[in-house]
Amino acid sequence: MLDEILSIIDDLPPGVFADLTLGGAGHGVATLEQREDLTLHGFDRDDVALEAAGQRLSAFGERAVLHKTRFDLAASLLRQSDVPAISGFLMDLGVSSPQLDVGERGFSYRIDGPLDMRMDNGQSRTAADIVNTYAPGELVDVLRSYGDERHAGRIVDAIMSARPLSTTTELAELVSNAIPAAARRKSTGHPAKRTFQALRIEVNDELSILGDTIDSMIRMLAPGGVGLVLTYHSGEDRITKDRMRKTIDDGALPGMPATSDFEWFFRGAKTASDDELERNPRARSARLRAIRRRDDT
Ligand SMILES: C[S@@+](CC[C@H](N)C(=O)[O-])C[C@H]1O[C@@H](n2cnc3c(N)ncnc32)[C@H](O)[C@@H]1O
Repeated sequence: MLDEILSIIDDLPPGVFADLTLGGAGHGVATLEQREDLTLHGFDRDDVALEAAGQRLSAFGERAVLHKTRFDLAASLLRQSDVPAISGFLMDLGVSSPQLDVGERGFSYRIDGPLDMRMDNGQSRTAADIVNTYAPGELVDVLRSYGDERHAGRIVDAIMSARPLSTTTELAELVSNAIPAAARRKSTGHPAKRTFQALRIEVNDELSILGDTIDSMIRMLAPGGVGLVLTYHSGEDRITKDRMRKTIDDGALPGMPATSDFEWFFRGAKTASDDELERNPRARSARLRAIRRRDDT
């Protein structure tokens, strides 16, 4: 979805662009290369990602400012950095390829590693804590709400019989065996995909701060500024759509000039093209939504 995002970035007023999920700075570097009149403030809660991003962005000197934080604090950190308004913001949610590809981080059902899944290694709760200590009903809720997992009950029964679990491949195999063979044959992707997604969302408390973060960043948009959110599952997309639509319907959020007026940058959600899907199958579930503050409002 990089091309779509860059074509929107092309349209922004000059000023500060906030990347709330900086990751390895793929979008960050492309933004600074494309728009010499933009400065980047990049946020991530993962030290490893920030280290990699810092190296890639060092070529841009003072045009790139990095912050280690959860993104719900981004708006207040921008104000503390004397940035009262922004030209745009991007949230590319979920997990990054470097997080997935290092077994030790425990995000992948394909690579053996500890059941960890913390984006911020300073946090104490891991996936192992959740799998091994939650009550059965709580675990079923997590798998249903964050993974849309239809076989949550069977998976949780199997977890209860096998506890304690300690590795990713142990859990992945248990989930595969717990799902009925017919459903396993029909499912697209690995049978443990939804369980791992649900646990990752629970470990990192990904949804609880999303809506308020989107509102706080919309409040910072300058006239003509655009907010972009790229989601990878239905829960994230629903929150994003609802918050943006509410702002478009109601106008100014508390704390904004009463004249502020918003519109969709485009209708609905954009999805990845066939070409992109061939290069990056992970983009299959990606949905891009964008909101713009109208000029002179
Ligand atoms: C999909 S990756 C972003 C990749 C990035 N757009 C790029 O071009 O390299 C998501 C990143 O967001 C970070 N992240 C996810 N939730 C976060 C949160 N609540 N606060 C701060 N960072 C978060 C993750 O640590 C990860 O590095």
